[in-house]
Amino acid sequence: MAFYLNYNTHFFFKFLLLFSLLSFSFSQSDVVEAPSPAADSCNGIFLSYAHSSGTKLKPTDPTHQPYRFESVLTVLNNGDEELKSWKVSVEFQNDEFLVSASNAVLADGTSLPANVGNGTVFAGFPMSDLKTAIETAGDLTQMQVQVQLLGTQFGVAAPDVPLPKNIQLANDGFICPKASMQGYYLKHNPLGRLDNWKLSFDWMRDEFIYTMKGAYPYVVDSSDCVFGTQGQHYTDLDFANVLNCERRPTIIDLPPTKANDTTLGLIPNCCRNGTILPPSMDPSKSSSVFQMQVFKMPPDLNRSELSPPQNWKINGTLNPDYKCGPPVRVSPSQFPDPSGLPSNTTAVASWQVVCNITQPKGASPKCCVSFSSYYNDSVVPCRTCACGCPSNTARTCSTTAPAVLLPPEALLFPFENRTAMAQAWADLKHRTVPNPMPCGDNCGVSINWHVLTDYSRGWSARITIFNWG
Ligand SMILES: *[C@@H]1O[C@H](CO)[C@@H](O)[C@H](O)[C@H]1NC(C)=O
Ligand SMILES: *[C@@H]1O[C@H](CO)[C@@H](O)[C@H](O)[C@H]1NC(C)=O
Ligand SMILES: *[C@@H]1O[C@H](CO)[C@@H](O)[C@H](O)[C@H]1NC(C)=O
Ligand SMILES: *[C@@H]1O[C@H](CO)[C@@H](O)[C@H](O)[C@H]1NC(C)=O
Ligand SMILES: *[C@@H]1O[C@H](CO)[C@@H](O)[C@H](O)[C@H]1NC(C)=O
Ligand SMILES: *[C@@H]1O[C@H](CO)[C@@H](O)[C@H](O)[C@H]1NC(C)=O
Ligand SMILES: *[C@@H]1O[C@H](CO)[C@@H](O)[C@H](O)[C@H]1NC(C)=O
Ligand SMILES: *[C@@H]1O[C@H](CO)[C@@H](O)[C@H](O)[C@H]1NC(C)=O
Ligand SMILES: *[C@@H]1O[C@H](CO)[C@@H](O)[C@H](O)[C@H]1NC(C)=O
Repeated sequence: MAFYLNYNTHFFFKFLLLFSLLSFSFSQSDVVEAPSPAADSCNGIFLSYAHSSGTKLKPTDPTHQPYRFESVLTVLNNGDEELKSWKVSVEFQNDEFLVSASNAVLADGTSLPANVGNGTVFAGFPMSDLKTAIETAGDLTQMQVQVQLLGTQFGVAAPDVPLPKNIQLANDGFICPKASMQGYYLKHNPLGRLDNWKLSFDWMRDEFIYTMKGAYPYVVDSSDCVFGTQGQHYTDLDFANVLNCERRPTIIDLPPTKANDTTLGLIPNCCRNGTILPPSMDPSKSSSVFQMQVFKMPPDLNRSELSPPQNWKINGTLNPDYKCGPPVRVSPSQFPDPSGLPSNTTAVASWQVVCNITQPKGASPKCCVSFSSYYNDSVVPCRTCACGCPSNTARTCSTTAPAVLLPPEALLFPFENRTAMAQAWADLKHRTVPNPMPCGDNCGVSINWHVLTDYSRGWSARITIFNWG
């Protein structure tokens, strides 16, 4: 998933929540080099090249197949000297044709798109100098540049990753070991979706939200501003009209009925009650857009001083947990024109926040499957403790004994009522049962998979879902 937040004017943010990638099941298929060299082995300049995605392109040509690639070249100054006019040589090796590169130009003056198959040198543009942590109190935006590369390469199909032969700093006077390179493919998770999304983040510079379109703060409250520095600075502003002054606001989507509301709606891709679907399900619902008018506070009133909010968090109802990374400056996003014209508005600046689905450590499943079939009168129940076991020591069941086969009608009863049935069934079938009896599955939801028929032309199954809630 990616969020682009965009400053339209110095007081406007526009947010595009793009459900583009979920890396729950991504494969870290190729880490070509050992971990990056210690930063100080290259006068403190750290280089890395990460391949992030690739897809097959037309025409289909087995001898010279083109593939789209996206990758990020990172140059970070962790040294004690400013790096003036950074230049990085990238030795491409797969007949690469580069279409675009953010934050950089080709040092030999070639304009893009260009054939870079024999390697090329990038130079920083517009930020050509990388300051030190000492000079900037560790401000990464001044110490680091990330070049997003988009292009075509030939012949390297997933899961192989097209990496350059080498990348190195081309500035004079720096002797650097081979840099780290890595590549991974992010896969769409076809099950990933968000419902009733809730988005929260921290304002870093005392900003506050004046108006919003396309979404709304969960809490409408300006009291923090009235009594805070904001109230002292904006003495003429009627804070009764200010939407939200929380340092960490939570934003929710508007219902579809507000889509055409002249005050709150009329933002393309807004107002779907917080539903974002994977593009494979419905591309027209795979992004959510909202806009907010934000007041900045001194000393940040300069319109070119933009500091994106941090500590992003998104969640939804009954959706998996997501962990979001920090905002990363990317090339300006394009937004559909709000008046409906077939043109795009380009943002002044964009950041990307990537959120991955996470599985909390030690989290247990919430659902289990039992099996039965027409040719066997016993049901194989859910595994013992499939969704976790009571931790208390006074338990009277075994957490390790396998679950006991059941008569089919036992499926209709909650676990507490099955013990006697299971025992009677075992007696009937001349089977012994463990002592103590196994614990239950402890799942709120269980599914029964019943093989109903099995003919030479195919089989059928009946699936029953039980909610023991
Ligand atoms: C790359 O190098 C090969 C051999 O040195 C040469 O034939 C080819 O023209 C070069 N391509 C470019 C784009 O410079
Ligand atoms: C909003 O306007 C569009 C275009 O006129 C229409 O298709 C859509 O149904 C309207 N939506 C609502 C909720 O009124
Ligand atoms: C929107 O979501 C709420 C729950 O947050 C639900 O009660 C409501 O029915 C939904 N409305 C639509 C139109 O889907
Ligand atoms: C705003 O910031 C930019 C870059 O930091 C600087 O060049 C410019 O002089 C500043 N403008 C004002 C009015 O302070
Ligand atoms: C989503 O996160 C908010 C706080 O960020 C929390 O209050 C809320 O309970 C969470 N909702 C779900 C469904 O986890
Ligand atoms: C999300 O996954 C990608 C790919 O593994 C990784 O580079 C990134 O750091 C992850 N982000 C977070 C916030 O976990
Ligand atoms: C507008 O941007 C979208 C992607 O954000 C793109 O698919 C579309 O082609 C663009 N339209 C125009 C007219 O540039
Ligand atoms: C029925 O299934 C159980 C569990 O797999 C097995 O132990 C038993 O032998 C089967 N009975 C018949 C008649 O196939
Ligand atoms: C299941 O067992 C509970 C007590 O363990 C009992 O109160 C309840 O009536 C039983 N339900 C059925 C349908 O037998």
